[in-house]
Amino acid sequence: MLKKFQRYPLTFGPTHIEKLSRLTAHLGGGVEIYAKREDCNSGLAFGGNKLRKLEYIVPDAIASGADTLVSIGGVQSNHTRQVAATAAKIGMKCRLVQESWVPHEDAVYDRVGNILLSRVMGADVRLVDEGFDIGIRKSWEDALKDVKAKGGKPYPIPAGASVHKFGGLGYVGFAEEVRSQEKELGFKFDFIIVCTVTGSTHAGMLVGFARDGRERKVIGIDASFTPAQTKAQVLDIARDTAKLVELGKVISEDDVVLLEDYAYPVYGVPSRETKEAIRLCARLEGMITDPVYEGKSMQGMIDLVKKGYFPKGSKVLYAHLGGVPAINGYAYAFRNG
Ligand SMILES: Cc1ncc(COP(=O)(O)O)c(C=O)c1O
Repeated sequence: MLKKFQRYPLTFGPTHIEKLSRLTAHLGGGVEIYAKREDCNSGLAFGGNKLRKLEYIVPDAIASGADTLVSIGGVQSNHTRQVAATAAKIGMKCRLVQESWVPHEDAVYDRVGNILLSRVMGADVRLVDEGFDIGIRKSWEDALKDVKAKGGKPYPIPAGASVHKFGGLGYVGFAEEVRSQEKELGFKFDFIIVCTVTGSTHAGMLVGFARDGRERKVIGIDASFTPAQTKAQVLDIARDTAKLVELGKVISEDDVVLLEDYAYPVYGVPSRETKEAIRLCARLEGMITDPVYEGKSMQGMIDLVKKGYFPKGSKVLYAHLGGVPAINGYAYAFRNG
């Protein structure tokens, strides 16, 4: 589906799929749980889902003659950290707008984890006091103008690399990769779990899995706490991406399965249940999930297994999209383990 698109390699190659045997057994064994380790996909600053997306965006950035990647996220954004790493790798400058998306106060929240890594990689990091919004932001547009005014040539990458013409392609590739891994494994996954916020990870998967009729088997777990906006953005990106890859199938609103029950109390703040899910997975599997994204999708998946959402015998693939560095900003929440 992606042959006609240029790809700049930023990842190691196909990501590992492993069975989470102890979590499977802990939850009764009726549903088999696997994880696809997108969190271990690259040597660039701890990796993660944005690198898969950026592989299809970088050729356009280079072709544009830009010298500075300009992007945006929250203070502990994984996305901006991966943009900073990409800029370093391709020899461009990087300007990052980090907004106050999370009402969370940890003494060193703006000093550790992702933002620390972005600073070490030489990005020009600017903190902006604006609240959460996955849409196009004035602060980002101002940063683009400012780079230009200073004689630079900016290349715009929106939040999560999502609302970009090529933003959905990386996760179309994920679906193709899963299909070829399924041939080796000798079975197909019945459901795919994905954490959804800015939308292009879910949208890309939806388009990729639509090729073999599994679009509604992609179960998005909302972590934005603004699910209507997230769902609309997934649908828009999926439709644009479907056209781009010539899927030949119309994506409908009902194809976007987005479960809204796990994002509380708000974006970026883990509930007691999210923290329990993070600990459970860490203690059974040694697999770390973060309090903003993957901890919430882990919580959702565990709850869905317990509730009987997946028929007995189902094979469920949890897409681990990265994000672990952010846990450093939540040291107080885990001070007793
Ligand atoms: C670790 C992690 N998981 C999930 C997501 C959600 O992906 P998307 O923004 O493409 O919906 C993100 C980024 O927003 C992330 O960094």
